[in-house]
Amino acid sequence: MPQAAAGSGTSGQVRGFDDAERLSPDALRARQLTRLQATLRHAYERVPFYRESFDRAGVRPEDCRSLGDLARFPFTVKDDLRAQYPFGMFAVPRSEVRRIHASSGTTGRPTVVGYTERDLSHWADVVARSIHAAGGRPGHTVHIAYGYGLFTGGLGAHYGAERLGCTVVPASGGMTSRQVQIIQDFRPEIIMVTPTYMLTLLDEFERQGVDPRKTSLQVGIFGAEPWTEEMRREIEERFAIDAVDIYGLSEVMGPGVAQECVETKDGLHIWEDHFYPEVVDPITGEVLPDGEHGELVFTSLTKEAMPVVRYRTRDLTRLLPGTARPAFRRMTRITGRSDDMIILRGVNLFPAQVEEIVLRTPGVAPHFQLRLTREGRMDRLTVRAEARPDATPEDRTAAAGRIARGVKDGIGVSVAVEILDPETLERSVGKFKRIVDARRDG
Ligand code: DLL
Repeated sequence: MPQAAAGSGTSGQVRGFDDAERLSPDALRARQLTRLQATLRHAYERVPFYRESFDRAGVRPEDCRSLGDLARFPFTVKDDLRAQYPFGMFAVPRSEVRRIHASSGTTGRPTVVGYTERDLSHWADVVARSIHAAGGRPGHTVHIAYGYGLFTGGLGAHYGAERLGCTVVPASGGMTSRQVQIIQDFRPEIIMVTPTYMLTLLDEFERQGVDPRKTSLQVGIFGAEPWTEEMRREIEERFAIDAVDIYGLSEVMGPGVAQECVETKDGLHIWEDHFYPEVVDPITGEVLPDGEHGELVFTSLTKEAMPVVRYRTRDLTRLLPGTARPAFRRMTRITGRSDDMIILRGVNLFPAQVEEIVLRTPGVAPHFQLRLTREGRMDRLTVRAEARPDATPEDRTAAAGRIARGVKDGIGVSVAVEILDPETLERSVGKFKRIVDARRDG
């Protein structure tokens, strides 16, 4: 059993980190509306892109009289940001921009984001709130193994942990054997890292003969990529920690847009006083009622340097009422992005669905990749998973059959399965590339 943080020193009364967490629903809605109206005005007046896009849609900032009116405003998509590369989306003079981050993007130009001093302060606040919701407390040591640099993970987590009053170990990604050493020596209570890099660390603990259940770690705050309940169970059991989900994206801020609370582990509370969420039908763009699945869309409510209006994240989820932080709605764990969906012979498949199956299969390690190839006119998907070191040849055959059947029965499509020797698949050092698309060569 993981050491439940609530009972192991990270604990105490469940309470909010700051005043916003105690807002009544009405007070929150009122705050959101004031901030939304200011954001729409700021964007319209300061960013030519928004002026043109609102004008084209025939709406003016003053048309937003209620939160529901936001639906009349046009969406913003990643390509819009790319087209304004590098600084065309900035709404303040360059001299007021204190920091720039960028997301690499798999194709084309990166998207650049900027922050004023006040934006950075708000960002630190929401990350502090997130770490607190995860069980972190002032005085804790936080080991940050998200990459530092243009990626928002490292620095975003860093300033939030400092804001909460924690001691930060800015390990960044990579140099895995040293990370294990540092964790043993500096004795952090909290680790912030991608879930797949946590698995890489797990291998390294075992390679060094160190029992990963005996570290000082109590809580892991995992995000930046999709992961599943099965992965949570694996990490919690192997490390004896609580594993919680953190969500965010650079266009909207970075990590800390939404956070799962350690006491409930029931999806992520969205820090709605800073980021206004909508869920829309990915095809028609129509706003869906809470509870329905669709694409998550965000409007920033406090950002100065780069406000975003109805930014389409391509992440799929649904909104639910708040629990541990009743003021804020939750979103369910993101199990896929519309761009990661594989359409295989007419069947939609997300890597996370395969993750659930692979992680439930005895004899295989939690490392796998999906390889797409083409044979004639048929796309073919091969699940390449690694055997656990103690798996016998019979275990491997059984595992391959189980995974293939699991995918066929659960998702409805036939796939090939290869069970590889231990330590043969590439390991994650940050965001892991689950899908290898070899169709163009094959
Ligand atoms: O990944 C920010 C971040 C850093 C979040 C560290 C959490 C922890 P981007 O590089 O812009 O920013 O990528 C954002 O990553 O749209 C999702 O598709 C995915 N993503 C982020 N967090 C989660 C999560 C950072 N908890 C994109 N679950 C988002 C699933 C996630 N996907």
